[in-house]
Amino acid sequence: MSATAVVDVGCGTGQLAVELARRGHEVTGVDPSPEMLEVARRRDGGDLVRWVEGDASCLGSGEYDLALMSGHVVQVITDNDHLRATFAALGRALRPGGRLAFDSRNPVARVWHQWTPDRSRQALADGVEVWFQDPRSHGDLVTFEIHFAFPDGTKRVSHNELRFRSYGWLTRALAEAGFQVDPVDHDEPDLIFMATSTRRRRVAALRIDASPDGEWLAAVVFDSLETVTVPITGLDTTEVLQRLRDLDVPQELVLAELEQLNLGWSARDEVRQRSQADMADWRRLDKERREQLKRDFRRGHD
Ligand SMILES: C[S@@+](CC[C@H](N)C(=O)[O-])C[C@H]1O[C@@H](n2cnc3c(N)ncnc32)[C@H](O)[C@@H]1O
Repeated sequence: MSATAVVDVGCGTGQLAVELARRGHEVTGVDPSPEMLEVARRRDGGDLVRWVEGDASCLGSGEYDLALMSGHVVQVITDNDHLRATFAALGRALRPGGRLAFDSRNPVARVWHQWTPDRSRQALADGVEVWFQDPRSHGDLVTFEIHFAFPDGTKRVSHNELRFRSYGWLTRALAEAGFQVDPVDHDEPDLIFMATSTRRRRVAALRIDASPDGEWLAAVVFDSLETVTVPITGLDTTEVLQRLRDLDVPQELVLAELEQLNLGWSARDEVRQRSQADMADWRRLDKERREQLKRDFRRGHD
């Protein structure tokens, strides 16, 4: 993979974000938890990543090639409207054609049935023991406890909830947020989603000006703050409209900018006259075609 701008949303303690930064990507790690981010910042290589405390709504527009939500972050976002807003914000944060990848446990596999002390107990580093307990499902919401036992005898319990959304729900929400979803293997215990942002970049501003060497240049500024400069020879209205249409600049914006230049002629009138001329041409051709059809019809009956 070539160097890309990546955002890791719900980056937690930043393991993946740092690993990607080490491979030459420009990485932003986002998480609402200051405690998680503190660990991430202190991690070896933590200075390679830009850390942001917050959620996807903190991200700008059109800045990233790839957005990741790993470790079932979408399930931690239990509120459906919040997840829809997260997808919409990621659609804006990605460049047109940018990719989103995330995982979510498949409700069909009912993995929470295994979240019992005997089936989930694990020994962590430094003699800490951890296990899951008391899983309960309420529709697609599953609540459960995580227990920690420390070597000095202290115990901690955290109360958690995760939403197990179906393949269909997630696919629909992504489509509503403007993503095109790759085929997903929906029999797997983990649903792995890859989707492409279909949002088109929007033009924020247009400026047409003479360059120092007397050429005309159009500068198009997009909502991502990306700027594209195109040379325009001779300020021919049709050529200017065509060049800028290729960059998604609305015709009205081009005409307004050309009017500003006080060229001594009106680009708007020129377009109007041209379309009237085209309409007259079209009427003439249509009349000729119908007369030809009538002649052919008569000939067929002679
Ligand atoms: C299970 S951890 C996953 C961490 C990391 N992605 C990984 O794979 O190890 C879930 C993370 O999502 C974060 N989170 C919770 N709500 C979030 C939200 N609305 N937007 C982004 N991240 C959120 C939590 O703070 C937590 O760090």
